[in-house]
Amino acid sequence: MSKIAFLGLGRMGSPMAARLAAADHELRTWNRTPRPELVPPRALESATPAAAADGAEVVITMLADADALGGVLRGEQGIFAAAPRGCVLIDMSTIGPLAARAVAREAQAAGLDFLDAPVSGSVPAATDGSLVAMVGGCAETLRRVQPVLAAITRAQLHLGPSGAGAAMKVALNLMLAVVNQSIAETLALAAGAGIAREDAYDVLAGGALAAPYVGYKRAAFVDPANAPVAFSVDLMRKDVGLGLELAREAGVDVGVGSAAALLLDRARAAGLGGRDVSSVLELLAPAGG
Ligand SMILES: NC(=O)c1ccc[n+]([C@@H]2O[C@H](COP(=O)([O-])OP(=O)(O)OC[C@H]3O[C@@H](n4cnc5c(N)ncnc54)[C@H](OP(=O)(O)O)[C@@H]3O)[C@@H](O)[C@H]2O)c1
Repeated sequence: MSKIAFLGLGRMGSPMAARLAAADHELRTWNRTPRPELVPPRALESATPAAAADGAEVVITMLADADALGGVLRGEQGIFAAAPRGCVLIDMSTIGPLAARAVAREAQAAGLDFLDAPVSGSVPAATDGSLVAMVGGCAETLRRVQPVLAAITRAQLHLGPSGAGAAMKVALNLMLAVVNQSIAETLALAAGAGIAREDAYDVLAGGALAAPYVGYKRAAFVDPANAPVAFSVDLMRKDVGLGLELAREAGVDVGVGSAAALLLDRARAAGLGGRDVSSVLELLAPAGG
């Protein structure tokens, strides 16, 4: 049992915090917008990031982006001001490798051990603990916190020094955006040929290109107008931007990933930024489809 501070009770963070509390860890939570209904049983809600981190052995952040993370780390009420030396800070948000390496340096200066550990999997995997963590940082630090991560992830893949987990995650999400767009394009093409959306989806989910993502997005793609938000267009566009930044740095041509950014930009311009990523299908439906 560890003393854990968990910051960020969003769509992903809230089920992750619930799993940590259910695994009998001593948990304090903090969210920018107070959400008492999301604080798990037996966990304590803190008024500031510093209050949550005070005395913690492990601090986990699951926030929207690098700016949000910076805000909770720095300043008088931030994590760096209060987390004890030797505490392990694990950022599980998707922030990209540049930001992850910068945070690693700041954490080291504050006497903390840092892991970037963003995850693959969406809200269902956060709920049933089957997320996969892509980890950058010291292997020994990962070994120390593995029992904590095991409560919220089914695998913790160590990929290299600080920033390696963050880099893998944005590379992966470039692929996710492309797959998401391909599903939408295939369904739109099928609709244009008069094929019912459900029938086309049976082919996608039952054929050679079936993947867990194709399977669990079925209801969202069959009826995007009513799909609950699992992963928003805004967050996917943020990740694609980080992926394109990584590609520029590495000198890799990612033409398909660049096309995915264009469709997501169209979706945001059409007011779909806060909607689930399946809503891109609404931009592609053929006339009358
Ligand atoms: N959803 C997915 O399927 C999925 C899958 C894998 C990874 N991710 C990544 O995981 C992270 C969280 O995603 P999510 O879907 O849980 O997002 P979300 O539901 O939008 O939640 C975002 C969280 O960040 C907080 N936040 C936003 N801006 C902030 C700021 N300036 N200062 C402090 N807190 C701030 C929000 O607090 P408030 O409640 O106050 O707004 C909320 O707790 C993102 O980096 C995302 O890319 C998401």
